[in-house]
Amino acid sequence: MNYHVLTLFPEMIESGMNTSIIGRAIEKGLISLEAVNIRDYAEEKRKGRVDDYPYGGGAGMVMQPEPVYAAYQALCERIGKRPRVIYLTPQGQVFRQSLAQELAGEENLVFLCGHYEGIDERVLEEIVTDYVSVGDYVLTGGELPAMVMMDAISRMVPGVLNNEESAQFESFQDNLLEYPQYSRPEEWRGKKVPAVLLSGHHGNVDQWRREQSLKRTLERRPDLLEIAELSNKDRKYLELLLANEEEA
Ligand code: ADE
Repeated sequence: MNYHVLTLFPEMIESGMNTSIIGRAIEKGLISLEAVNIRDYAEEKRKGRVDDYPYGGGAGMVMQPEPVYAAYQALCERIGKRPRVIYLTPQGQVFRQSLAQELAGEENLVFLCGHYEGIDERVLEEIVTDYVSVGDYVLTGGELPAMVMMDAISRMVPGVLNNEESAQFESFQDNLLEYPQYSRPEEWRGKKVPAVLLSGHHGNVDQWRREQSLKRTLERRPDLLEIAELSNKDRKYLELLLANEEEA
């Protein structure tokens, strides 16, 4: 996976991405990352300036189209491909695990990070393939969202996580939340680890975990149940939970 980030703050991307698991994946050569400074593509006559006042008036500045376009064109020529371009914006589709999974299959990804009041619409029309938001709030720029996305996508790239399983069986498997986890000691401040986990009976452990996932999702993120992959047994268990709730 090769990430290319078009940004006015390349040092923010570099310092944020070279640590921990992602840093290790970069060292291993599973992932590469380049942060391209859009300012390097400012027009000669503009002397490093990449923003200007909005036509029609209003607050703030708008990033001009040409430096962004030139940075993207140079990138395409360098790699000999025209990869997907993700523009980070609160106006995009909300980022979810399913998109992380899909994007992990791409060879190259470009993240376009805006600042100020945004980027001139014409260059967005020209190069952007995906508009993505990381949530319904407004940030000062696209760098943090780009890093959030790269982190989530990277862990879906084979070999990045040590244990292939951990990518598969965590939160949002089947669009359900993960079951609770326990480690030693068996009793902590009077709280005991659920007995089934100490039983050594794998079938019972699996069933308990599935039920906990369902219960947790119903309590914390009931919206996910609409898109979750549920068996008939799952549905029966949820009905039971709902019936008990009504009784209480
Ligand atoms: N840029 C500013 N706010 C954002 C958000 N919520 N998601 C993605 N990009 C953004």
